[in-house]
Amino acid sequence: MTLSRTELFAGTPVFDLRPMTAEDIPDALTLWSGMPGLSLFPCDSREGLSRYLKRNPGLSVVARRDGRLVGAALAGHDGRRGFLHHVAVTPDFRRRGVGRAMVEWCVNAVAAEGIGRCLILVNAGNDEAKDFWRHIGWIDRPNVQVMAITPCPERA
Ligand SMILES: CC(C)(COP(=O)(O)OP(=O)(O)OC[C@H]1O[C@@H](n2cnc3c(N)ncnc32)[C@H](O)[C@@H]1OP(=O)(O)O)[C@@H](O)C(=O)NCCC(=O)NCCS
Repeated sequence: MTLSRTELFAGTPVFDLRPMTAEDIPDALTLWSGMPGLSLFPCDSREGLSRYLKRNPGLSVVARRDGRLVGAALAGHDGRRGFLHHVAVTPDFRRRGVGRAMVEWCVNAVAAEGIGRCLILVNAGNDEAKDFWRHIGWIDRPNVQVMAITPCPERA
């Protein structure tokens, strides 16, 4: 599936959305690496991301403009809740609807598998991202505290 956003007046495609595949991983890692607001972990190795895409086929997305990757987002579910990760747009392409379109794409893909709610982890200090999520309709869950355990640090 490929979707195009069209400039309102110019009539030319602005960006295309399509499911992320293993071939997109190097470009996605380049986009995500060092981007303020995002945290990469050992599980974000090429092998780890490839495993994630295999486990959640068709749920993650890339946005490209003339072949250049301008946005990427991971999405998956555990059979109960959906999760989005690493939703990011290249700085020169922000505020053009890419982030919202990718999130809608992922949420719809997860919902099509029968999942009724999606969650996102936002770094505590990432106020811009929080404003983005709120603006597109996501709600804070102040009564929930994230906790973790790390049995395999090398893959965490
Ligand atoms: C967050 C991010 C993905 C948003 O992408 P984007 O392509 O700029 O977002 P969009 O253009 O689709 O914005 C959708 C709407 O949210 C609004 N919006 C975008 N960023 C916003 C912000 N920081 N604060 C308030 N509103 C914001 C837009 O104005 C737009 O509003 P509209 O549809 O009513 O006109 C992008 O800023 C980014 O990559 N940030 C760095 C990585 C990051 O922190 N990711 C989130 C990790 S949890």
